[in-house]
Amino acid sequence: MSKLALEVKNLSVEISTPAGVIRPVDDVSFSVQAGRTLALVGESGSGKSLSCLSLLRVLPQDARVVSGQVLFEGQDLLALPEEAMHRLRGSKIGTVLQDPHTSLDPLFTVGEQIREIIDYQQAPGRAVSRQRSIDAMRSVHIPAPEQRFSSYPHQFSGGMRQRAAIAMAVACNPSLLIADEPTTALDVTIRMQVLRLLAELQAEHKMAMLFVTHDLHVVRYFCDDVAVMYAGRIVEQGPVEEVFNRPAHPYTASLLHAIPKLSRRRARLTAIDGQPPSFSALPDGCRFAPRCPAAQEQCLTQYPAWQTRPAVAGGAACWRTNEMLDGRLIIQ
Ligand SMILES: Nc1ncnc2c1ncn2[C@@H]1O[C@H](COP(=O)(O)OP(=O)(O)OP(=O)(O)O)[C@@H](O)[C@H]1O
Ligand SMILES: [Mg+2]
Repeated sequence: MSKLALEVKNLSVEISTPAGVIRPVDDVSFSVQAGRTLALVGESGSGKSLSCLSLLRVLPQDARVVSGQVLFEGQDLLALPEEAMHRLRGSKIGTVLQDPHTSLDPLFTVGEQIREIIDYQQAPGRAVSRQRSIDAMRSVHIPAPEQRFSSYPHQFSGGMRQRAAIAMAVACNPSLLIADEPTTALDVTIRMQVLRLLAELQAEHKMAMLFVTHDLHVVRYFCDDVAVMYAGRIVEQGPVEEVFNRPAHPYTASLLHAIPKLSRRRARLTAIDGQPPSFSALPDGCRFAPRCPAAQEQCLTQYPAWQTRPAVAGGAACWRTNEMLDGRLIIQ
């Protein structure tokens, strides 16, 4: 059994909105093993970013964690003093947030910002930290990093800002990287280069990664495990290969059917019919039931108990998981 780098237990986040209090992260549990990548997937608005932000304790002002534990190296991040948490962010825990504007300060040059992190953590001396930040920029394929060292964030394109954010996140060889859609804004070639770089860093330093993405091809070829979120809850979790070959939840099956088939001449994206429920009007039973082709009476009234997958770590919150796993129920 390999070492757990991060263990999230029963995490819930509430937000006060004009329409009342909503709970967009609801009893979420998952873990990431050292040297492995856990993909967090799910439709827009399912709570992926809020989950990441709560682990890092950088939630928006009106949101708060109401329960749960976030265990990292034997300590609960949610219980640490802010000062200790601040030290962890950008050292042992690297972060790339969904909006790269939040990682870069517009008032300082990109190079200085990367150097500041290296200085703060390692204090190798100014000449060395300058060289290391240039190397970090080069490693994410920022062209002409010596010149770009002195550019301000607004002088970078969106894709380049994203790469700079990744360079900052990995500059100190973190043992855990939390990356929220880190490659979405990048074009395909750069995306592949950045993914390759992350895989190299992972192999070299046994870095664990929590990787939020919409791109199921990236999950397939780049991630080890996957957790699927729907309307604030994890509905399925397990090793990528198992889950992709035989999903245990109808929602996962529908997501997989919606992947554009690269092999076909004309890529077709089949969207899942219907919309996720609103957090202020959640159904009583399974949250996916109103859209689920396999929903039965019980699904509409009772939230499904977690069903474990045989032989591997994983499972799904669906009354019909066993039928899906043994092939009696096939979602087309
Ligand atoms: N500050 C806020 N105030 C009110 N509601 C919010 C706030 N931030 C997020 N939400 C709501 O919480 C839910 C989860 O948001 P979150 O950003 O975590 O989704 P996501 O899964 O990351 O989506 P995406 O794939 O679009 O990035 C959404 O329905 C969103 O509207
Ligand atoms: Mg998000």
